Amino acid sequence: MTIDLKSFIRDISDFPKPGIVYRDIAPLLLDPQAFKAATEAMAAPFDGETVDIVAAAEARGFIFAAPLALHLNAGFVPIRKPGKLPFDTHSHSYDLEYGSDELHVHIDGVLPGQRVIIVDDLLATGGTMQACCKLLERCEAEILGCSFLIHLSDLKGESKLQPYRVESAVIY
Ligand code: PRP
Ligand code: HPA
Repeated sequence: MTIDLKSFIRDISDFPKPGIVYRDIAPLLLDPQAFKAATEAMAAPFDGETVDIVAAAEARGFIFAAPLALHLNAGFVPIRKPGKLPFDTHSHSYDLEYGSDELHVHIDGVLPGQRVIIVDDLLATGGTMQACCKLLERCEAEILGCSFLIHLSDLKGESKLQPYRVESAVIY
């Protein structure tokens, strides 16, 4: 039986700001069959490929990256906000709608030439994933592609991720 993943994603109007329809994955995470189906759908485009590492940015990226790493027989590398990683890091700053943010990865998190996929729950403007790609480029990783549960296609975030492969299980 195929599971309709969209039926487990709840729309919340006017969160976090008036006019925004927030796609809430909490109901999907509550249902083990839907959660499993979501991680399988995110891994499927890369099934059969050798993947050394699944990387993801905190916090919601971690939720999907860990089961994907186990499914693909790969390691997991966390990409984190400043001040969280204890060893030496590469860092990348990026602009947000208001202000800026910064992400870090351990310098030995990914070794040169390792084959990596980067995952997140949602692709909106693409700024977060673009920062993850820049960090992994600094590690000289081979980026196989990016896998999302949800792609908000109106925002054209995929344009920031060229030339990388962008896969998503659910498109709005
Ligand atoms: C959300 C989401 C993605 C990012 C997508 O994370 O989990 O990481 O925004 O937006 P973008 O494509 O415009 O960068 P958020 O920054 O809200 O942090 P969280 O995972 O800690 O909730
Ligand atoms: N849902 C969850 N996270 C988000 C969204 C959304 O619609 N847009 C940007 N981050």
